[in-house]
Amino acid sequence: MVTLSGWIYKKREFGKKIFVDLRAMGNREYLGRIIQVVFEASRMDTEEFKTVKKLGQESFIVVSGEFVENVRAPGGVELHVDKLISYYLAEKPYPLAKKKHSPDFLLDVRHLTIRSPRYQRIWLIREALVDYLREWYKKDGWIEVYPPILTFTACEGGATLFVLDYFGQEGYLSQSAQLYLEVMIYSLGKVFSLTPSFRAEKSRTRRHLTEYWHFEAEAAMYRFEDILKAQEESLAYAIRKLLENDRFYEWIKEFRGDMDILNNIKAPFPRITYDEAIQILQTKGINIEWGEDLGADEERILSEEMETPFFITLYPTEVKAFYVKAYEEDEKRCYSADMMAPEGYGEITTGGEREDRIDVLIERIKREGFDPQNYFWYLDIRKYGSVPHSGFGLGIERTLMWILKLDHIRETIPFPRLARRKTLI
Ligand code: 4AD
Ligand code: MG
Repeated sequence: MVTLSGWIYKKREFGKKIFVDLRAMGNREYLGRIIQVVFEASRMDTEEFKTVKKLGQESFIVVSGEFVENVRAPGGVELHVDKLISYYLAEKPYPLAKKKHSPDFLLDVRHLTIRSPRYQRIWLIREALVDYLREWYKKDGWIEVYPPILTFTACEGGATLFVLDYFGQEGYLSQSAQLYLEVMIYSLGKVFSLTPSFRAEKSRTRRHLTEYWHFEAEAAMYRFEDILKAQEESLAYAIRKLLENDRFYEWIKEFRGDMDILNNIKAPFPRITYDEAIQILQTKGINIEWGEDLGADEERILSEEMETPFFITLYPTEVKAFYVKAYEEDEKRCYSADMMAPEGYGEITTGGEREDRIDVLIERIKREGFDPQNYFWYLDIRKYGSVPHSGFGLGIERTLMWILKLDHIRETIPFPRLARRKTLI
């Protein structure tokens, strides 16, 4: 005899027999799937059977019975109920009972949408992805740290800053933990953090959120090539670990169809220079000149035919943020690289080596329209035992979107913050 509880996902009645697809809870193994629960009039109390007839989608039930093998039931077993122990009614009709809804309506009732087995799977895979990334860094000797979200210096330029009033002083929501991680390496050597980052992105794209989760790492004495290596090895590790889990493997396969690219993922990833990327684009007839940043379209074209993530290296210094280290042989280029996900997905990380020359940093901060005074602490760390260092940031949602081959980033986070939405849950 077992007791099982959960929410009714679907119900089918055949006279004296009722089949319920239950979103069971209480055990991790139950999540992301449904358990078939069978109520048979002959097996249980008449009043209880009548009550079950009344229960609609998303009503909660606690039942006891026996698990019985049935090859036709999802997962190969079903619960034959002896007793309805208790229940909590859902109002009828449930707004999501119909099959087809517009994406906008689904976002209007996001507080309900997130219950489906499909979303349960996304949340579980997301949790595991973060766990495995963290695991790689901890094994490799990096320390997790906790940088602030209320900040007073921009990291990624003024255009995407969320400005706030901090007791009369101008503050910002963090765009990146990087500047603080650069400070923390002088305490701990190799550090990483997982924080929300905020971007006042006006662009309505499939890959921009205004609040996203940012996995960032920074290490003392790491050069450009070292930080590329950490990125490719940690991502390859996390994906391998996901695929080693049979449940995740099946789910990911259902989401993306083809598993070849994930199965074959292996560090090192190919690297092409920005110059090569421009040449490839020009050969394909794209109108782009050296010095222009690569946008979503260019990244899609470059990554469409790729079968592995890859890096684009040595971007023009001008298109990157103020902190990038200039390439010694040609200061117009810099030690900055973006990791592209294949299959048209484009950028999932940006990273590189950091500039150490205080005068250069001051000039660049001014050029971005900020007051170097506010960056006093960031400049100060260059004075006391400053060492070469590198770091990067990976967007969890962008990465998950590619792994699951989803067509919109809103699918990867329970409560997506999207610039164009008016109703925000
Ligand atoms: O490329 P970004 O802006 O780089 C930085 O913030 C660096 N300071 C990171 C570092 O070196 N510590 O952001 C890093 C990653 C992007 O590659 C992308 O995956 C993700 O963050 N990202 C976004 N994800 C969703 N929505 C947005 N609006 C995003 N903006 C960046
Ligand atoms: Mg970037």
